[in-house]
Amino acid sequence: YPFKHPKHVDWSFGGPFGHYDKGQLQRGLKVYTEVCSACHSMRLVSFRTLEGLGYSEAQVKAFAANYKVQDGPNDDGEMFERTAVPSDSFPSPYPNAQAAAAANNGAEPPDMSLLAKARGITRGFPQFVFDIFTQYQEGGPDYIYSLLTGYETPPAGFQVPPGGHYNPYFASAASLAMPMPISNDQVTYDDGSPQTVDQYSKDVSAFLMWTAEPHLEERKRTGFMVMVFLLIFTGLIYLTKKSVYARKQ
Ligand code: HEM
Repeated sequence: YPFKHPKHVDWSFGGPFGHYDKGQLQRGLKVYTEVCSACHSMRLVSFRTLEGLGYSEAQVKAFAANYKVQDGPNDDGEMFERTAVPSDSFPSPYPNAQAAAAANNGAEPPDMSLLAKARGITRGFPQFVFDIFTQYQEGGPDYIYSLLTGYETPPAGFQVPPGGHYNPYFASAASLAMPMPISNDQVTYDDGSPQTVDQYSKDVSAFLMWTAEPHLEERKRTGFMVMVFLLIFTGLIYLTKKSVYARKQ
């Protein structure tokens, strides 16, 4: 099928010294909340982790209170609904998987917590070998960005299945059950960033990278320290070798 490799975005968190851009992550959260959460859950991301994006405890509490979650069973053995608290996670908008699939032409919208890693390596051989050796981590957000901005009119002769939407970036086929989810000016930004599909897609992809890899920055820092240590250690081992095997005069 007509498959396209993801477009490359120059992410702020890319490369060995990359950092998340908190403003971008906050905008991405807004896009997720106002658009994607209508269909996609994030069951592994609890509201309190949003403090990592720079929100206060009170803000997180107020944010969580916008959601209802299932709890129980209570003393009578029944499940009940209650207002979410910071220790809850982003719930599914559907009561169960069957309902989710039924509402979306038979395809269940995947949980988004780890989506940026699930589709990490989507590039072909030999590129993916290179990706592994260079610890290329941006494949996931590149993929999500490309998918969101990749809806096209199908080429002549291509039969889009009923309920499908043509998109050559989708990893499993050339069409998927998700219609283009976002359009220009749909989400209001208060920091003056452009309200375009392109910007929304970058922001939400960066946000999903953060949900999947919240400790990315620490890991990069540790990795760098390990490389420095190995370099020094190699030097010491070399000197030791030279001294141990030195010819006695
Ligand atoms: C699939 C992202 C909004 C319904 C996907 C996939 C991504 C994604 C990356 C593909 C996962 C894969 O490769 O398997 C997003 C983002 C959204 C958004 C970032 C918000 C900007 C929505 C909305 C709906 C929806 C609003 C419901 C109307 C679906 C469904 C699938 C899907 C049904 C499964 C498609 C299939 O397997 O054919 N979404 N989505 N999404 N999404 Fe969304």
